[in-house]
Amino acid sequence: MANVYITRKIPAAGVDALIAAGHRVDSSVKDRVLSPDELTSALTAKQYDAVLCLLTDKITAELMEAAGPQVKIYANYAVGYDNIDMKAAKKLGKIVSNTPGVLTDAVAEHTVTLALAIMRRIVESDAFMRAGSYTAWAPELLLGSAVRGKTVGIVGLGRIGSRVAEILHHGFGMHVVYFDVQQNEEFEKSVNATFYKNLAELLPVCDLVSIHVPLLPATTHLFSDTQFALMKRTAYLVNTSRGPVIDEHALVRALSKGVITGAALDVFEREPVLTEGLGALQNVVVTPHTASATVEARAEMALMAARNIIAVLSGAPAPQQVPYPPEA
Ligand code: GLV
Ligand code: GLV
Repeated sequence: MANVYITRKIPAAGVDALIAAGHRVDSSVKDRVLSPDELTSALTAKQYDAVLCLLTDKITAELMEAAGPQVKIYANYAVGYDNIDMKAAKKLGKIVSNTPGVLTDAVAEHTVTLALAIMRRIVESDAFMRAGSYTAWAPELLLGSAVRGKTVGIVGLGRIGSRVAEILHHGFGMHVVYFDVQQNEEFEKSVNATFYKNLAELLPVCDLVSIHVPLLPATTHLFSDTQFALMKRTAYLVNTSRGPVIDEHALVRALSKGVITGAALDVFEREPVLTEGLGALQNVVVTPHTASATVEARAEMALMAARNIIAVLSGAPAPQQVPYPPEA
C-alpha cells in the first residue's frame, strides 16, 4: 500500500481505481487551485509515493525536492505538461506522465465549435436575441463567413491538430494546410493537405488558423504583431493549446484595428485573467479552458492518470510517461 496525493477533486473513476489497487489516497479538501505554499505544505504533510497533479499546479524543482525522494511519479491530469519542470524531474529521477489520446476528440470538437461560433457569430447573435434587439428578419443581419471551400491552417500537427483537420475537411469541406516541425505525408494523403515549412508562408493563405502546439520557449509568443499582419484581414484565429503562444496585447491590437476579423480562445496568456480590452471586443469568443471538459474525457483522464500511478507503484513503467528533454 502506498500513499497518493491528489491536488484537487477529480472525477471519481481515478480515485476509485487507486483505492481498488490498494493505495491510500489523500486529496486537497479545498476545491480550488492551491497556492505554491499550500501545495508544498500538502506534499510535505506526509511521505507521499505518488502525486496526481493538475495543469494549474507548478511542479518546480524546489517542490519536488521538498516533497521528498520517495515520490516516484507526478501524474499530470492533462496532456500538456508545461507546468512541470521536466529538467528537474529528470535530474531528480521523477517519472512524469500525462493523458494523451483520451481528450483528443473532446478538444478537437471544442476547437471546431469555437471556429464555427466565431465565423457564424453565434455568441454575438445570442447576446443580440437576449437583449431584445431582434425586430425583424433582415438580409444583412449578423453576416458571418462561409466555411466550405475556405482554407484552415493547422499550426502543430499532433493528435489534436490532425483530428481538427479531419473534421473540418471531411465534415465541412475545408482545404487543409499545415505547419509543423515535421512533415507527415500519411496525413497529407488523408485530408489532401499541403505542408508549409514555415509559419510566415502558411499564414497568408489561411481563412482560419488553429493552434495546436505545446508551450515551449520556441512557441511562446509564436503569434504577435508580425504574424497577425501576415494573416488575411478576413481571417479568424482559434487557440485551444496554451495561452502564452499568443501575445494577447498584440491580439487585442489586431482585433481592434481589423488586422484580422475574429478570434476564439479557450486558453489565455495570464490565465485566468483576460488581457485588458479582450473581453470588450465583439469579435472574440472565449471559453474558460474547457476544451477537454466532457464528462467522458475528464473521467478517462482521471483513470489514465491513476493507471500511470498504479503501474509505477507496482514497479512497472508508466504507460504514458513523458520523455525527458534532451541534454542541454
Ligand atoms: C489541457 O489543457 C490539457 O493539457 O490537458
Ligand atoms: C495532443 O494530444 C496532441 O498531440 O495534439
